[in-house]
Amino acid sequence: MKDSEITIISVGPGAHDLITLRGHKAIEDQEMIIGMKDAVETFAKHKEHYIPANMKTDCVNFIKDCPKSRIGVLVSGDAGFFSLARFVTAAFENVTIIPGVSSVCAGFALLKKQWFGYRFMSVHGRELFDECPEVSTVILCDEVNNPSAIAAKFPQIEEKFNIFVLSDISLPSEGVFAGISDYKKTSRMIIVLEEKTA
Ligand SMILES: C[S@@+](CC[C@H](N)C(=O)[O-])C[C@H]1O[C@@H](n2cnc3c(N)ncnc32)[C@H](O)[C@@H]1O
Repeated sequence: MKDSEITIISVGPGAHDLITLRGHKAIEDQEMIIGMKDAVETFAKHKEHYIPANMKTDCVNFIKDCPKSRIGVLVSGDAGFFSLARFVTAAFENVTIIPGVSSVCAGFALLKKQWFGYRFMSVHGRELFDECPEVSTVILCDEVNNPSAIAAKFPQIEEKFNIFVLSDISLPSEGVFAGISDYKKTSRMIIVLEEKTA
């Protein structure tokens, strides 16, 4: 790596028209794009690109060895919300971040609800937490730590919260499900636990 400029580009929840104009322009300005397959195919397949097997472990090493001067890293949703951006900013100095539309913002728009006052957690690629949420909470899930696994560990959540599962937000396969029993499992899901009012 020379003195490369690295730009972390938030691409939104997945739809081609939910990236910002700034994000779109930033992609055009890069000599090399790194990103997950879906993001590269949607936003940057015309650019020279690298799709790591594991973004978290391979991305930083790839950048260290990359001879290009302008390197763009695509991250889903917004870079400031449970993203790889923290590993890239910790490893390199010359980093710019382009903000984007988080899956949470897009999900609450689908629900026509406000997201202020919520607590945010992620079990994406992590251990399930040990204590049942007490207040209105949004949880980023993955296929293993999915809404059914959360409900099985904390059966009381169905009594305490109105539950919504949102999958593949903004994509043609998008789903909005009330309750835990009938949602469609995908690799992109968030669960919204809305405290029931007395
Ligand atoms: C590594 S986190 C990235 C979060 C991202 N920075 C954001 O602002 O949405 C990945 C998780 O975000 C959520 N996610 C991302 N895109 C999504 C989508 N289109 N629909 C539902 N959930 C999504 C899922 O919970 C997924 O496991």
